[in-house]
Parts: sequence; C-alpha cells; structure tokens
Amino acid sequence: MDSLLIKGGVPLHGEVLISGAKNAVLPIMAATLLTAGKCVIRRVPQLSDVHFMAKILASLGARVTIESDTVTVRAAKLKPVGNYDLIRKMRGSICILGPLLGRQRYAKVSLPGGCVIGPRPIDLHLKGMRQLGAELTIEGGYVKAEAARLIGAEIFLGGRAGPTVLGTANVMMAAVLAEGVTTVESAACEPEVVDLAHFLNQMGARIVGAGSPTITINGVKELHGAEHEVIPDRIETATFAIAAAATNGEVTIKGARPDHLHAVLDKLREAGVEVHRQGLTMTVRRGGRLKPVDVTTLPYSGFPTDAQAQMMVLMALTPGLSIITERIFESRFMHVSELARLGADISIEGPNAIVKGGKGLSGAPVMASDLRASAALVIAGLAAQGTTQVNRIYHLDRGYEKIDAKLRRLGARVKRVEGS
Ligand code: EPZ
Repeated sequence: MDSLLIKGGVPLHGEVLISGAKNAVLPIMAATLLTAGKCVIRRVPQLSDVHFMAKILASLGARVTIESDTVTVRAAKLKPVGNYDLIRKMRGSICILGPLLGRQRYAKVSLPGGCVIGPRPIDLHLKGMRQLGAELTIEGGYVKAEAARLIGAEIFLGGRAGPTVLGTANVMMAAVLAEGVTTVESAACEPEVVDLAHFLNQMGARIVGAGSPTITINGVKELHGAEHEVIPDRIETATFAIAAAATNGEVTIKGARPDHLHAVLDKLREAGVEVHRQGLTMTVRRGGRLKPVDVTTLPYSGFPTDAQAQMMVLMALTPGLSIITERIFESRFMHVSELARLGADISIEGPNAIVKGGKGLSGAPVMASDLRASAALVIAGLAAQGTTQVNRIYHLDRGYEKIDAKLRRLGARVKRVEGS
C-alpha cells in the first residue's frame, strides 16, 4: 500500500487548479443508466472511486470509456444485476438503485458495506422508493426493488441527522421516469444535488427546485443522452484553503466555486485567515495571528462534515481552545488519535472534539482511516516540523486527484512511496 512521505515546515505558495467534484460525478455517472442514449461527462477527476463506478456501470451492461477527464457512457441495454462485490465495496454506488428502478422498474443492488465514519443506513432511500410504488425485499445482502408502475408521490426525506444527499439523488433519479408529479420535501440542498438535477434536465427530465428543501419532479416517458461538465470540488477547494492557512503560505485557488463554500470561508475569516475572491479564483493566506473558532457540521449550506477533519488541524495549530461538533456522522473522529501522534491535544466528549491548540506539531508515522481523515493528516504533516509518513493513502486517492503532484507544485516536499 502506498504512503506519502512529507517533510513539513514549508509554507505553500503558488496556484492550484481544482478538479471536478467526486460527489457530483458519482451520481451523474449512475444517472446515465436512465437512458440508452450516449452521455458525455467532462471535468471528471481521475479517482479510484470514478474507476470503480465505471466498472460497476460496465458490469450492468453499459459501454464506458474514460479518456483523460472525459467519461462516455452508453447504456443501450441493461443487465438485471451488477457485480455484487464491486457495488458492496463502494458506498456511493447505492445511487444506481434509483436509475435502475426508474428505467427498468427492477433493481437488485448489494447493500453498502460498513463505514468507519459511522452507521450509514439507507432507510430513507428505501422509504422514497416504496412511496413511489416499489416493492422492496432485503435478502442475501441485496436490496431488491420492483414495481409494475412508478407513480409520483409526496415524499418527506428528512432523517435523524437532517436531509440525505444520496437519498435525495436516488429518489430524484427514480422519479424522473415515474407517472405524474413527485415532490421531495426536506431534500438535500448540496451543490452536487443541483448539478445532478441539471444533468437530468439536460437529458429531458423536468425537475424544479433543486438546491431548495422542496424539489418537484414531473415524470416523463423517456430520457435521451446528454453532455455535461461537472462542478468543481468544493471539498478539495476547502482542503487547499485550509492547507494554505495551516502552513502560513499563500495559495491562489483556480477554477473553484467560492459561492459553494460560504460556511467554510466564513469560519476561516473568523479565525483570522485572509480570503480574497475574484470570480472563480480565490487567494488564501494566513494574514495575522490565528484565532480559535468553534465549528459545528451541518447539512448544506452549513459547515460541511467533509471539511471537519481538515479544520480540526488548523485549530490544533491555533493557540487557544476551540470546540468542533460533528452533527452528521457520529464517529467521524478517527483522525484524532493519529493527530495526537503528531503532538495535537484533542479530547472527545460525545459529538464534541475539544481542541487545545497552539502546540507545534512534529512529524511521525500515521495511519489514514478514511478519505477526509487522510487529507487532514497530510495538512498536519505539511505544518509539522520533521517528517511525517501517512500510510494507507488509497483512502486519499479515492477523493483527491494527484494531490501529491499538486502540493509539490505549491512547493511542498511530498513524496509518494509505493507499496510500503
Ligand atoms: C454524501 O454521503 C457524501 N458522499 C459524503 O461524502 C458526505 O459526507 C455526506 O453526503 C454528507 O454531506 C457522496 O456524495 C458519495 P447522507 P451520503 O445520506 O449521501 C443519515 C466524502 O468524504 N442517513 O447525506 O451517504 C446518515 O447516517 C463522503 O466525500 C439516514 O439516517 O450521506 C448521516 O448521518 C463521506 N438514513 C446523515 O443521514 C438514510 O437513508 C447524512 O447522510 C440516509 C442517511
């Protein structure tokens, strides 16, 4: 398994171009199953999750080609069931359920496996399918959904932690080919949900209200192929912005959507970080002395849970006390014990991480446990004195395109060590 060797203490300087959003491209690739027509998706990041999804679509009978950042899919004819193991291994693949049910009134999908960041039930996804008229059975590790007809309905999708992102995507994709009108209440408002709705409307769907808690879908008979460019990755953007501040550098982030990041930029400014926006470009630098801030993760447009670990590193470097509260995934604190190896002083009480910041970090071997925890360990390694080895970076490659090369272009001393 590859690892990253990071010699810390170098302020990041220069420009970085943001890649397309992983969490937009996965449901968009799944949506191509809704039509026999040709779909072309651009600005697709080269990530292991994307390659996984491509294999899953191919296992369902679709012809998929990936040429640099362009994915072409033609799902002329579908097989009833995809590759069990592939689907089980990647949680995001649950979003093939809606398109398969929508297109062929039948879907058999392996249940997603466990996840270190907390329990990830799909009860809301299934509730939505049932309300559209599907019969559901869970058997042998599969969820089977079948419907003679799909009929539009009013569906409330709010759960114990608020809306569900992929649940909203799945129900939207099942409802576009249903009879009549579907209204999704307490829908997720994430930019990735909006980008998916844009793509579906380009395929001939009739969706209004995406980006608000109420989405209305007028069912149509069939969809056609379409072309689409994916939105930039707001979590990659947040990661580079925080890395600039953590290393006391100055980074110009290009091709971003700062308007998708208000909560993060607001917290950075509150902490004393300077953020200058110009259209799709923003320059981030530490400015003066950092101040501790409290952060609570919330559904969009609140502070994203996917930037919580990275922000915790910045607070560990900031003199004073800050409290980081995780409201979306209850055990998303796997990075805390690894940050302690680098000298951070963080204690956990229920959903709160109490960060006593300001102690310098020193390099050490650490273990990545999940995608965003690994990004936080990389930032900590960049800010620490000495050398940090981040192991199991396959987690990082799932969601960050060529991050080590991008960091080296910003002056970081980062080396990928293969198979260590
Ligand atoms: C998406 O996951 C993202 N993944 C996650 O990003 C992100 O953390 C999450 O949204 C929240 O923003 C992709 O888009 C591929 P949810 P998703 O359903 O849709 C509970 C990353 O790092 N819930 O919005 O699976 C659930 O347990 C990943 O890129 C139910 O109770 O998340 C959680 O507490 C990690 N029942 C909350 O809702 C359900 O049926 C939000 O989960 C579904 C969810």
